[in-house]
Amino acid sequence: MLAWQIARFGIDSMEFVERAEPEPGPEEVLVQVHAVSFNYRDLLVVKGLYNPKMALPRIPCSDGAGQVLAVGSHVKNWKTGDRVAGIFMQNWVDGPPSPEKVKGALGGDIDGMLAERVVLKESGLVRIPAHLNFAEAATLPCAAVTAWNALAGARLMPGATILIQGTGGVSLFALQLAKLAGLRVLCVSSSDENLARARELGLDASLNYRGTPDWDKWVLDQTGGEGVDLIVEVGGAGTLPKSLRSVRMGGQIAQIGVLSGPSDQLPLPLVLHKQVQIKGIYVGSRRDFEQMNRAIELARLRPVLAARPWADAPASLRQMEEASHLGKLVVTMQG
Ligand SMILES: NC(=O)c1ccc[n+]([C@@H]2O[C@H](COP(=O)([O-])OP(=O)(O)OC[C@H]3O[C@@H](n4cnc5c(N)ncnc54)[C@H](OP(=O)(O)O)[C@@H]3O)[C@@H](O)[C@H]2O)c1
Repeated sequence: MLAWQIARFGIDSMEFVERAEPEPGPEEVLVQVHAVSFNYRDLLVVKGLYNPKMALPRIPCSDGAGQVLAVGSHVKNWKTGDRVAGIFMQNWVDGPPSPEKVKGALGGDIDGMLAERVVLKESGLVRIPAHLNFAEAATLPCAAVTAWNALAGARLMPGATILIQGTGGVSLFALQLAKLAGLRVLCVSSSDENLARARELGLDASLNYRGTPDWDKWVLDQTGGEGVDLIVEVGGAGTLPKSLRSVRMGGQIAQIGVLSGPSDQLPLPLVLHKQVQIKGIYVGSRRDFEQMNRAIELARLRPVLAARPWADAPASLRQMEEASHLGKLVVTMQG
């Protein structure tokens, strides 16, 4: 079967190769992959910035969707033809995280989804929402589950205000899921064009941070001087100081990403004075994914994506590097 693999780090070093046909063990499932989506993490993995000591060759990408092709002799929950997606951490089925559960991440600890066929644990799959095609379903395992957990952990009531940063995968899912929950959403982005499209999805107010780097003042203006209830923090060190100034007293920060450059001086006293709750998010469990899928199915939510053939996988990663995209970048194996 064909697969993309990292034999040496770097987008230009990715290899499109023939690999041995994977065979499912007794408790495993063979999946024909129809579509794969990219996360910023995949870019870091391919460039050797995520884990420079990663054993190579490695098939990248955590997120894919497809159909069950065969099942092992002890598999009870899946049959040929089922429409499925892999879960990000193959060992995190339910409950709180543990060192054991967070091992086994696809496209990191173990081979990922950028292949014609993959073998996954019986417990490492979810059924995909019925109204979604494979390209749409392939966007869900990492970015959507992460956004879901950022919101679920904050337990906000309708009418609360959140801030999202940028218009990439996690942020757009946070927008779409927040609108389902009746929340007001503010967004800072580098792209007027992407912001215009985000407004069509329900975005309430926006600012281009290229023209106005002091976006924390804008957030305070938008919230009557109080600050927002929750920040879906994908920027990391470079944005956290402004996030701390933008969050309301007693508000929450879901700390997710590492997109930005080095930090200004971190205003640590603000964490104490405002009694900010900062919660780290690392994707989530299979149960989180299943709960999210119920909401997505009920609302008939459709992910925002741009798809191209899988021969173009390196081009998708380069586009992610340029950060010009909206929502998710996807490759499809057929059609
Ligand atoms: N902890 C977890 O479990 C988890 C899960 C998923 C992702 N992540 C992390 O979350 C981050 C986002 O991932 P993703 O896959 O959604 O990325 P993505 O699709 O590549 O989106 C990145 C977007 O963020 C915006 N951006 C870049 N630098 C920014 C800055 N300094 N301030 C504000 N916005 C900025 C840009 O949007 P505009 O052009 O609109 O400005 C860019 O297109 C990454 O760091 C990723 O590693 C973590």
